[in-house]
Amino acid sequence: MDIADCYIKVRKRTEEICWPLQTEDYVVQPVVDVSPPKWHIGHVTWFFETFILKPYFMGYQEYNPDYNYVFNSYYETVGNRVIRTDRGNLSRPTVAEIYAYRKYVDDAMAKFLCEEPGEDVKELLILGFNHEEQHQELLYTDIKFILGHNPLFPAYSHDYVSPKVDWVESGEFIKLPEGIYEIGFKGEGFCFDNELNPHKVYLNEFEISPNLVTNGEYLEFINSGGYHDFRHWHAEGWDWVKTNKVEAPLYWHNIDEQWHHYTFHGLEPLSLKEPVCHISYFEAYAYAAWKGLRLPTEFEWEAAATQFSWGKSWEWTESSYLPYPGFAKAPGAIGEYNGKFMVNQKVLRGASEVTSPGHSRITYRNFFQTNLRWQFTGIRLAK
Ligand SMILES: [Fe+2]
Repeated sequence: MDIADCYIKVRKRTEEICWPLQTEDYVVQPVVDVSPPKWHIGHVTWFFETFILKPYFMGYQEYNPDYNYVFNSYYETVGNRVIRTDRGNLSRPTVAEIYAYRKYVDDAMAKFLCEEPGEDVKELLILGFNHEEQHQELLYTDIKFILGHNPLFPAYSHDYVSPKVDWVESGEFIKLPEGIYEIGFKGEGFCFDNELNPHKVYLNEFEISPNLVTNGEYLEFINSGGYHDFRHWHAEGWDWVKTNKVEAPLYWHNIDEQWHHYTFHGLEPLSLKEPVCHISYFEAYAYAAWKGLRLPTEFEWEAAATQFSWGKSWEWTESSYLPYPGFAKAPGAIGEYNGKFMVNQKVLRGASEVTSPGHSRITYRNFFQTNLRWQFTGIRLAK
């Protein structure tokens, strides 16, 4: 597939994710971490306009200079921007205006891509595709939060199909010997800068579960009083539980003594065999401590990942999000993509059921703060 077709494909998928939405669904920002869908639609468009069309397409006319203020996410290099908490206050530009902006940029990109771009532009384009795929996942997670916090629990789409889980019946832990393992991205193709440089780490012998922890297993933690026993929790986690009165994963509702959870199909009885999802790092850690086990480090996860199936939920690891040896930020605005977030976050490995197909890989490093759980996040145990 040539690069112009890749562009069309990635842009089309973003719009397909939004097809089931009503106009009102595009505008809501219930919490700071959740951006209104229309902001995502505009922001990913702004990315191509700012980093491809404006610098590289001779004679390109910027669509609307105000949009740089509205749709810049966090790039200090690119100027001032609307603060994140205010994204939900943007009743203008309207959804229709943002789709018109999208079409304007897509038309310009089609003209620009008539000619084969140079290697440096190709690299930026591929970063733009991967960026848009990250926002495709955020669209799913944000739409789920928006609809899942509506008291009527409307379905996103009854056509949504949740991928099946590869369940290993024996469940015996996979043992890896002590030794030196190679970590990080090597070889051809795209990776994010945070996957570089490849390097060696020494690991002690360890064991890792072939399965993710299920809802049924997590329910045992709840029923045994796990949320009421400080011994399983970090001090920060225990404060978080008490302050927020947390009693269960996000989207779980106990209705007439029956656990239900909100899904893209609406509210459904809890499926005990499904992996537990939408939990914070604090909860993942507490569950592992209650079991007398632990979370894997990101290095253990990567060393073992060819031996289990992954991709249903992002998996919390015990590793802080830090630069690899020799990590370097790119010059200019693109250098702000990952490096400046390498503080106070934990690494998640794998992918989730709403990660865009082919987007992740064994060396991929996702990262979030320890209290967040609106992403599709789960638990794999180690010892
Ligand atoms: Fe972004």
